[in-house]
Amino acid sequence: MKLTILGGGGFRVPLVYGALLTDRGEGRVTDVVLHDLDDGRLRAVARVLAEQAAAVPDAPRVTATTDLDEALRGADFVFSAIRVGGLEGRANDERVALEQGVLGQETVGAGGIAYGLRTVPVAVDIARRAARLAPDAWVINFTNPAGLVTEAMSRHLGDRVIGICDSPVGLGRRIARVLGADPKQAWIDYVGLNHLGWVRGLRIAGRDELPRLLADPDLLGSFEEGKLFGVDWLRSLGAIPNEYLHYYYFNRETVRAYQQAEKTRGAFLADQQARFYEEMRDPGAAALAAWDRTRAEREATYMAENRESAGAGERDADDLSGGYEKVALALMRAIARDERTTLILNVRNQGALSVLDADAVIEVPCLVDSGGAHPVAVAPLPEHATGLVCAVKGVEREVLAAAGSGSRATAVKAFALHPLVDSVNIARKLVEGYTDVHPGLAYLK
Ligand code: G6P
Ligand code: MN
Repeated sequence: MKLTILGGGGFRVPLVYGALLTDRGEGRVTDVVLHDLDDGRLRAVARVLAEQAAAVPDAPRVTATTDLDEALRGADFVFSAIRVGGLEGRANDERVALEQGVLGQETVGAGGIAYGLRTVPVAVDIARRAARLAPDAWVINFTNPAGLVTEAMSRHLGDRVIGICDSPVGLGRRIARVLGADPKQAWIDYVGLNHLGWVRGLRIAGRDELPRLLADPDLLGSFEEGKLFGVDWLRSLGAIPNEYLHYYYFNRETVRAYQQAEKTRGAFLADQQARFYEEMRDPGAAALAAWDRTRAEREATYMAENRESAGAGERDADDLSGGYEKVALALMRAIARDERTTLILNVRNQGALSVLDADAVIEVPCLVDSGGAHPVAVAPLPEHATGLVCAVKGVEREVLAAAGSGSRATAVKAFALHPLVDSVNIARKLVEGYTDVHPGLAYLK
């Protein structure tokens, strides 16, 4: 079985390969094709993978190419983990937004729109090629902003593209743990858009245990979301929001924290990864050790400004392990081997959340089998959450329209309509600022 990874020179590829190495089952991936535009990055990552595979018998064979069509041809699965504009692009997304006093996070607010505008045309090109060259392949989208990019690709690939994120599973796992339950046995009633969802219930043996958590301030304050949002706010909401909602509910504080930070997240990661790829140019360097050190530092500092502004302290050791690769592997196994399972994924709505149309990509529990991911119908969201979901989906649709038509006015509309951008004038300045720094936005006229 052939797995193609687009963005194959990316820093998180060894996580995926590490997960593949643990899979000993029938029908597992035998060939991994790494595709990237940058040959040096491909070579660096290939070295890490070679060290990972050293002691493993029958490890999947790894090849690398800079030819996209060659990489796609004959693939059974395609992981799309590209980063258009690189981490320098991410740092610019953040900087331009913060200069205008709004948020520049890569998936939320102005930064997410800028990143989406840059990424959608490239993702659409990939989707078109995949539909032509690997019509039976399943495409799993890792690229942020994951919901928006998945929706763009779904217009060409239908339900053969599925978007993933590890934040809902991580959230479900934390809630189950504080309740003393096995996360694998819990049904997580979660729905929304990517990085914009809420856990409204958590059923263990058929019983909703979330009320027990909400009733116990000590328990509620003992894990990441309790510390980030505060016990009182979670009790007012009666739900546990995805951690990215911190940017909405505490917008003023997070903008200030990011303005005061020595470096933005993107700038920090750009420097950190530049050091790693530079180190890999030394043929004597221990690749896996260098990669692992860099990874650990990245994970420890994840959302550090949010935690600091909330006085939430360090991350729990249990939360450091990530999980993207586990979601991706579970999804691939369920499809390839018809190992039926449920996963929270980004797929076309198809009526699961009645307030949005059938083609809107949402993040929702899905039943997965060899036929793909089938969203499970969920109870409606409360009005405040419906309001946010509809507003942000409306913005995503403007981004898709701007990327399709190349209309600058539509791009302004996308920024201006976002709940975290508070003025049409600011939206105009954002479009100016972003088109000045990003060559990938030259198509906006
Ligand atoms: C979480 C989010 C992802 C994000 C990742 C890394 O897993 O769900 O969307 O890509 O963290 O974030 P970072 O800030 O380290 O790039
Ligand atoms: Mn995510």
